Amino acid sequence: MNLIPKILIFIIIEVRWTNSQEFYGTCNRPFSCGTISGFQYPFRRHQDPAQCGYPGFELNCDEQNLPTINITNIRYQVLGIDPTNQILKLVRGDMIDSICPQDLVNTTIDHELFDYTSSYTNISFLFGCPISFDVVGMIDSFLCGNNGVSPVILVPGAQGPGLCKTSVVIPSPVGFMSSTGLVQVLREGFDVRWKVESRPCTDCTLSGGQCVYDVRASLTTCACPEPPLLADSCSKVNKPEVSSPSSSSSSSSPGTPCF
Ligand SMILES: *[C@@H]1O[C@H](CO)[C@@H](O)[C@H](O)[C@H]1NC(C)=O
Ligand SMILES: *[C@@H]1O[C@H](CO)[C@@H](O)[C@H](O)[C@H]1NC(C)=O
Ligand SMILES: *[C@@H]1O[C@H](CO)[C@@H](O)[C@H](O)[C@H]1NC(C)=O
Repeated sequence: MNLIPKILIFIIIEVRWTNSQEFYGTCNRPFSCGTISGFQYPFRRHQDPAQCGYPGFELNCDEQNLPTINITNIRYQVLGIDPTNQILKLVRGDMIDSICPQDLVNTTIDHELFDYTSSYTNISFLFGCPISFDVVGMIDSFLCGNNGVSPVILVPGAQGPGLCKTSVVIPSPVGFMSSTGLVQVLREGFDVRWKVESRPCTDCTLSGGQCVYDVRASLTTCACPEPPLLADSCSKVNKPEVSSPSSSSSSSSPGTPCF
């Protein structure tokens, strides 16, 4: 009669233990993605379990290539990562092979997750402008592949289309002097800083745990190699109470098995 609950509890502990081992073991060792190494939480590979990374930090990894990440439905190629300063260097996926954006959308980032670093400026590509169009401060003007017959006009700042059909705003590193080298500069991409706090993760890692995302609670937590399985950090947490103390009504019977 006593045996069945024992077995049940044993099974439950086994299952939780096994899951935690998996949770702990499969996530967040620093990993490489494509040709770049040094990624860790909040990033995860697209194919990793959801709890391995913070939502919005999924990378597409392809052995020979640079990683890509989708932010606000735009595919960016990751040119570099600076984990200490939480900086990613990005370039729009549709501007890798051409100075002209192929998708006529403004560059946007998710400001909940990322900020531009201070060292950027806006450039606007004006498409479909009238033939004799001329603007003050024009940086450059050139033909843009299959985007129409009229040349694209580059102007500084985030500008609306005005008399042109479409404007596409692109962040660019500050300091370029003229159109000379602009292609190069745009290819170098721009920096964004990710805003997910690293401090709790540092604490977690130092305590022997690995940062994971608790999908149910929607927050970053710490996966420990031993119970307690999930905590703020592994060493700081008290020993778990595996069985609840016997209900206070009757004094504990000495013969009761204890887990
Ligand atoms: C990323 O965005 C591109 C469009 O820019 C889309 O084709 C692709 O399916 C997206 N990938 C993921 C994993 O969401
Ligand atoms: C760039 O343009 C966006 C709007 O598209 C604006 O919110 C942002 O402040 C601009 N940044 C700079 C540095 O001018
Ligand atoms: C890009 O942003 C500008 C304002 O910053 C806006 O006027 C323009 O319509 C936007 N372009 C697209 C394609 O949404």
